[in-house]
Amino acid sequence: MKKIEIKLKNDQYNILYAPLSKSIDYIKSYFLNGKTVAIIADNNSAHHYLNKLEKDLLDVNQNVIKIILSPGEKNKDLTIASKIIEDLLSQKFERTDTIIALGGGVIGDLAGFVAAIIHRGVNFINIPTTLLSQVDSSIGGKTGVNTKYGKNLIGSFKQPEIVICDTEVLTTLPKRELLAGYTELVKHALINDVDLFNYLDVNSSEIFKNNTILQDAIYRSSLVKAEIVMKDVLEKDIRAHLNLGHTFGHAIEALYKYDGTLLHGEAVSIGIMMAFSLAEKISLCNTTQTEAVKKHFDNVGLKTNFSELPNSGLTSKNLIKLMKNDKKVRSGSINFILPKGIGSVDIFSGIDEDIIKEVLEEYL
Ligand code: GLY
Repeated sequence: MKKIEIKLKNDQYNILYAPLSKSIDYIKSYFLNGKTVAIIADNNSAHHYLNKLEKDLLDVNQNVIKIILSPGEKNKDLTIASKIIEDLLSQKFERTDTIIALGGGVIGDLAGFVAAIIHRGVNFINIPTTLLSQVDSSIGGKTGVNTKYGKNLIGSFKQPEIVICDTEVLTTLPKRELLAGYTELVKHALINDVDLFNYLDVNSSEIFKNNTILQDAIYRSSLVKAEIVMKDVLEKDIRAHLNLGHTFGHAIEALYKYDGTLLHGEAVSIGIMMAFSLAEKISLCNTTQTEAVKKHFDNVGLKTNFSELPNSGLTSKNLIKLMKNDKKVRSGSINFILPKGIGSVDIFSGIDEDIIKEVLEEYL
């Protein structure tokens, strides 16, 4: 069975590529002395997988608390985290008990945050069921909720005991959601694995039809992220590379107010294109490389510009203002992760605002 071992200074855990239907075999040894497992899931994952998981947990003598949320970014909210904690405490959820996240990135971030703070930290198991969560948010222990000042501004690092990743479950996802997650998969290739980018590009017409290719791509992309996280789990330096396309992307997302017009991965694919255009302007990469990424995104059906999107106050002034709110801003200067070709990136700050404006206006 394939796995990725995450080895950190104070934590060690496996991402196990295993069928969700057999997850009990891999997770039960982590329950320790606990008597209760709380499953936090979204409606979609609950609909497909909760009954079997609940039965399996009851069979190994765990009490089960189920917390099922409607899908959506709105769940990453301090009030919701607080309600869940009160609900668990009212049901005598103890320090030795376990929280399982069953769902996508929103559920993983929220459930992980609850697991980090309830009783000052309890066992946490992550079962990601979307491409975005399998390839990105379940790796590296970032958890948290959003605020009106920006995304993920309240949170904690909380590493899971184990991540169970079943790539077969992705077949139940809507194509749009799959594609949005695919942006992060490609992002890892662009950051540190040019061979993976070439592999994705050669297979661009097959990747969503052939699960073996998709599995292979998920594994290789997750390895890129795992290696970065192992070098810098607290994002003191190179973990920030994982934010390629996100300075632009978060601003674009904020402009559309997380109302579903644009998914995170869709904003990030446009953001990655902007990062390439900006990198080109300051001679870090060339047009051929930018065009290759654009062609790949176009071929798979990802957004590379704003055509087909409502205007929503889309101006370079608004976008720059939103970028300045991002948590990656240091001393008022916007930080960018920019490509130095395909497969290599670095952090840049102090870029002339006129150049940033020029890039944005090419897209508007
Ligand atoms: N998604 C970026 C990170 O985990 O650091």
